[in-house]
Order: sequence, then structure tokens, then C-alpha cells
Amino acid sequence: MSFTVSSKQLLSKIATGDAHGENCPYFDGWKAYDNDPFHPTNNSNGVIQMGLAENQLCFDLVQDWILDNPRASICTPEGVDEFRDIAIFQDYHGLPEFREAVAKFMGKVRRDRVTFDPDRIVMSGGATGAHEMVTFCLADPGEAFLVPVPYYPGFDRDLKWRTGIQLIPVHCESANGFKVTREALEEAYEKAESENIRVKGLLITNPSNPLGTILDRETLRSIVRFINEKSIHLVCDEIYAATVFSQPAFVSISEIIAGDDGIECNTDLIHIVYSLSKDMGFPGFRVGIVYSYNDEVVNCARKMSSFGLVSSQTQHLIAAMLSDDVFVKRFLAESSRRLGIRHKVFTRGLAQVGISCLKSNAGLFLWMDLHRLLKEQTLEAEMALWKVIIHEVKLNVSPGSSFHCPEPGWFRVCIANMDDHTMEVALKRIRSFVLQKKEPVVVPNKKKCWQDHNLRLSFSDRRFDDFLMASPHSPIPHSPLVQART
Ligand SMILES: Cc1ncc(COP(=O)(O)O)c(C=O)c1O
Repeated sequence: MSFTVSSKQLLSKIATGDAHGENCPYFDGWKAYDNDPFHPTNNSNGVIQMGLAENQLCFDLVQDWILDNPRASICTPEGVDEFRDIAIFQDYHGLPEFREAVAKFMGKVRRDRVTFDPDRIVMSGGATGAHEMVTFCLADPGEAFLVPVPYYPGFDRDLKWRTGIQLIPVHCESANGFKVTREALEEAYEKAESENIRVKGLLITNPSNPLGTILDRETLRSIVRFINEKSIHLVCDEIYAATVFSQPAFVSISEIIAGDDGIECNTDLIHIVYSLSKDMGFPGFRVGIVYSYNDEVVNCARKMSSFGLVSSQTQHLIAAMLSDDVFVKRFLAESSRRLGIRHKVFTRGLAQVGISCLKSNAGLFLWMDLHRLLKEQTLEAEMALWKVIIHEVKLNVSPGSSFHCPEPGWFRVCIANMDDHTMEVALKRIRSFVLQKKEPVVVPNKKKCWQDHNLRLSFSDRRFDDFLMASPHSPIPHSPLVQART
């Protein structure tokens, strides 16, 4: 008996389709780093990982706290008495002390201008799980969410892949600092309507990844008016809330709808996605939160959270850590201070060689403008330049096209996942590259090497297409840590 059934017929559409979205440069850059990771002494010509939006600047504070609070870890002599109770805990509401601590922390990050109700805190596997969960609650297959571009590439996976919904871009332009205007929102909405696509919501990211900008109060008010008039949902990803390092201050959507000067709207339409991956720098803990003002969404999401609970051990530790007001206050202040210094050093270093970045005051990255280095103002030319930067300059930055940015020449550069020495090497490489470039980049075809001590641009015959995909959630092993070890 012969078997002629192809794997496509044996497996589901999800399993055999490529809607996961990993097939893009944002993820391709990871493999180049994994193959040749920079090390200050062992591999000083290796690729520096600048495609990873991680906050690794304050682990000294966290480590000190862990040492000072051994009871918070249940695998220590001081904490082992609680091991049994924590190990058997499996309620999908979460540990009450965890929800209370997270609600309080969310308030502190928003300068105590708003309070959060612990009973509305629903946990999930990171913001990744939170986005999918809220999408499952709000939309059916074929329906759509509007999303301002450029946006975090993971949204294609998180919102669309398993839910079957669509994302419709809201076009924002560099000419006005990528503002989310009412006109752009209307245009995207009308386009969807003309194609008979039902729009169920708008997703905004504030502060923005990849822009590092925050939405001002007036823009937020106009967005709330828009979704209220259309009677569609508003999902606000605020996972970079505590990464704001200078004025103007961050304004949460919760402030816009709450309090005496809160705008009048149907709060059943408002949902916040949060996580500790960026503000605390704990992406490995997978602490994600859906905070909805809609009771039905809270109830449904809580049931769905069974598919992506945060382990009780993590809940226990986080509850203790985030309940420590002194630690939280110091951590938040010091984290934003260190991020501010990073940002200043990097933007100034680039400005000295004529490279500008979008003006920003948040995030773990810069939105760098290299359009003048393009051979022509096209996304193909952007890709050619990106190949040179990754394979020759040996920096894994992410091209704007992977964030769906239609304007060529923008690159996201992560600056908070490395130590000072690595940052200096990275900055030196970009500066030397820019200074030595007289002609715009053409696609490389000759192999030489980019060296730190004798910086020069040269070419490689290694084909970009040969690189496999890798992502923060891929099975390909990689070490995202870029640290000077002497
Ligand atoms: C805007 C945004 N939302 C969500 C995520 C996913 O975060 P998490 O690690 O909590 O799943 C990221 C990660 O980079 C992000 O930048």
C-alpha cells in the first residue's frame, strides 16, 4: 500500500502556512548574529546584536534585590517552606498578591496618576500571548484591526496567525514625525469598508516600537474620539511605558479615560496590553497582562489564560519584588536615567558623522535615518544597505521595511541590550562606515572583512538568502546576551 498524501493534506492550514511572519529580515538578522556573535576578546570582529529590544542596563539592581530577599525565591533555605504551596498553585486568576503587586506597579509606572484594579489583571504568556488573547476576545476570522505603521513585526504573528484576523496599515509619515492623524485613521477605515472588511479595532503602541516616540495627550484624545464614534475597540500596547527617559512624560490611555478630565467614551472599548519584558527587562519570565475595562473581556480572557499562565514560582517572586516600593522607585528612576544616557551617547555619536535619528524620548532603540546612503530611494536599496550593515559592518540592526515602513532608509537600532564597551564598538563601526562611504551602497559581491582596529568597508560573497530564520521564539538556539567578559 503506497502513501501519496502530502504533508500539506495531513496537517492543518496553520501548520503548513507561512503566516507566522518569521520570513522577514527582522528575524533573518538573528542567524547572522548566532553564526558569528561578537565577543570583546574572543571574537572582536563578530556581529553585534542590535536587533534585540531588551533592557539589560539595570540587572545589578535586580541582583542586589534577589540577594537581599532570599525568601522571595522558593528554592532557597529562607523560602523553601513555601515551596509546596506555590508549586501546587494553579488557579487561573493568579496569586492575589501577584495581581495586587502588578496593579500597583502599573500605577507607579504611570506616576500614580491612575490606579488599576487587581481584579481586572489577567495574565498571559508575555505581551505576545496577551495580544492574541485579546484579539480572540474581540474579533472573528476575516475581521480586521487598524495598526499605524511602522509597527512591531511580531504583531503579524500575535494578532493574525492563529486568530485569522487581518491587520490594515494606517499610514504615518516621517514628514510629521510619524504622527497618528485623524485623516490617516479615516483613510484606513474607509479603505477597509470599501473592501467589505469589518474593522473591529485599532491597535496602538505607546511608546512606539520602533519609533521610540510617545503619543501626546491630544493625539490620544483624538484616537479615543475616533474609536468611540466608529464603535470599535482600542487596544493599547503600553509595554514600553517605563522606558521614557526625558520630557514630555508618558501619558497612558488610562489617564485619558479616567478622572475628572477623562474624555467621555464607552470604556468597554478600551483594553491595555502590558508585560514586564521591557520595563523590567524580564522577557524570559513571560509575564504578560491584559487589562480590560470591559467585564466580559476580563471574564473571557481569564478563561483563555489557562493556555498561557505565568508559572506560580514567577508570580511569587514578582509579587515580592514589585511590592517593594523602595526598590521599584529606585529601579524605575535608575533605569530611565541609564536609558537616557545611552540614548544621548548614541545619538550624539551619530550626529557627529551627520546621521540623524527620529527625535524620541522612550524605548530601547533609535529609529536611524540612513536614507542618504541609499543608492536610490527604494526598499530594494534599503535591503542592499542592510546586507552590507549586517555582513560587513557586522551590526544586526533591523531595516524599516520589516516594520512595514513604506519610506526607505530607516533602521531600528537597539541600544540597551549591551554593555558600555560593546556599545562603543558598535558606535565606532557605524561612524567609520558612514565616514568612509563616499558612494551609496551597491549590493556587495566580493569577500573581505570589516575589522575594528583598521576600520574599512569591504564586501562579502556570503548570500543573505542562505541565512536561516531565527527569532526570539524560534527553535534555533542563540545567545542574545552581548556582554563584555574580560
Ligand atoms: C510593541 C511590542 N509588543 C509586544 C512585544 C512582545 O513582548 P513579550 O516579550 O512580553 O511577549 C514586543 C517585543 O518586542 C513589542 O515590542
